[in-house]
Amino acid sequence: MSTPLLQVEDLAKHFAVSKGFLRGTSHVKAVDGVSFTLERGRTLGLVGESGCGKSTTGRLLMRLLTPTSGRILLDGRDVAGLRNRELQEFRRRVQMVFQNPASSLNPRQTVGAAIAAPLRAQGISPKEGMKHRVQSLMDRVGLRPEHYNRFPHEFSGGQKQRVGIARALALEPDIVICDEPVSALDVSVQAQVINLLQDIQADTGISYVFIAHDLSVVKHFAHDVAVMYLGRIMEHGPSSDVFGEPRHPYTQSLLSSVPAPDPTADRSRRIRLSGDLPHPSNPPSGCVFRTRCPVFALLDDEKKTRCIEEIPRGDAACHHLPEAAAFAAGRAAPTAAVPATAGSAPAIATAATATATATERKIHADS
Ligand SMILES: Nc1ncnc2c1ncn2[C@@H]1O[C@H](COP(=O)(O)OP(=O)(O)OP(=O)(O)O)[C@@H](O)[C@H]1O
Ligand code: SF4
Ligand SMILES: [Mg+2]
Repeated sequence: MSTPLLQVEDLAKHFAVSKGFLRGTSHVKAVDGVSFTLERGRTLGLVGESGCGKSTTGRLLMRLLTPTSGRILLDGRDVAGLRNRELQEFRRRVQMVFQNPASSLNPRQTVGAAIAAPLRAQGISPKEGMKHRVQSLMDRVGLRPEHYNRFPHEFSGGQKQRVGIARALALEPDIVICDEPVSALDVSVQAQVINLLQDIQADTGISYVFIAHDLSVVKHFAHDVAVMYLGRIMEHGPSSDVFGEPRHPYTQSLLSSVPAPDPTADRSRRIRLSGDLPHPSNPPSGCVFRTRCPVFALLDDEKKTRCIEEIPRGDAACHHLPEAAAFAAGRAAPTAAVPATAGSAPAIATAATATATATERKIHADS
């Protein structure tokens, strides 16, 4: 079996944060035991709610942050040990596209100079000349080469993101980490940028880690998907499997809340999560999803204890996948009759609390 292009093993990043004068420090577990591989010519979609650790993972992959523990291997080589020329080569091979194209460009620098910057930083002088090289990159991403001397404010949001993509491609990288590259763009422009990324992948065999909170974007673009929650991966696998038949209760709930194109679609399929998202400085023990898991509430005490005490691992990180499948298949209409708990957000009534009926009986019957 060939060595994967990128391997991430049990990666963690805990930020030390001061709690105030004489109160010591706490640790924000932004990323806490993330593992995946990325093959050549493939796209991994990294999805999850705000604050779940997507960008921190991206910055760790870029070596912009030092991991607390775990390893990142490029072609089987631990990138933590790279120095000097090897580190420079790593920086050439792994590039990033940022969420906000406007703030990632210097307003006083022409787009030509912005795209040339990585080449200059690496001391590369293209034999066809810098300007020619930059203009062919502009052409590749759908920008007019004669706009070489224009400034970022003269471009639309989508065009600015094309500049960001050209800049990331300048060094012919093997991997581009795209951190929410289309979130700031209009829907029609999003599709154009995604089509461009796909075309470039088809031409060059480049690999992407594509970070997004919009599941529909990832569904059509990523070959594989990893669903993150509180610094951990809840479910990971080929997109067709994860989107077609989600196994983890968190993925099931995320997908059930994606608006259906058909307005007459069965809204009783929707799972609403209870409670607030815990803070990553104080994540729940065992399964970090347990305080909001609709399946947890339906389990017997022995099974609950396992959720509380033992960290689940694997492609679908849940101790009780049969119960999760039964819940997903059998849940009934949620919530209208369920009173909201005092002090809680209005959307917290859950299918679980509302319908500890057929599904609950089935889970207990299975146990
Ligand atoms: N330098 C830092 N110091 C302390 N905490 C941090 C730091 N960077 C990130 N965090 C915290 O780590 C957690 C994960 O942040 P991260 O930016 O990776 O999330 P995200 O999934 O990219 O969120 P979003 O979708 O909002 O961009 C958050 O709770 C964030 O506040
Ligand atoms: S391990 Fe328990 S709490 Fe976690 S997702 Fe599975 S059933 Fe829910
Ligand atoms: Mg982010």
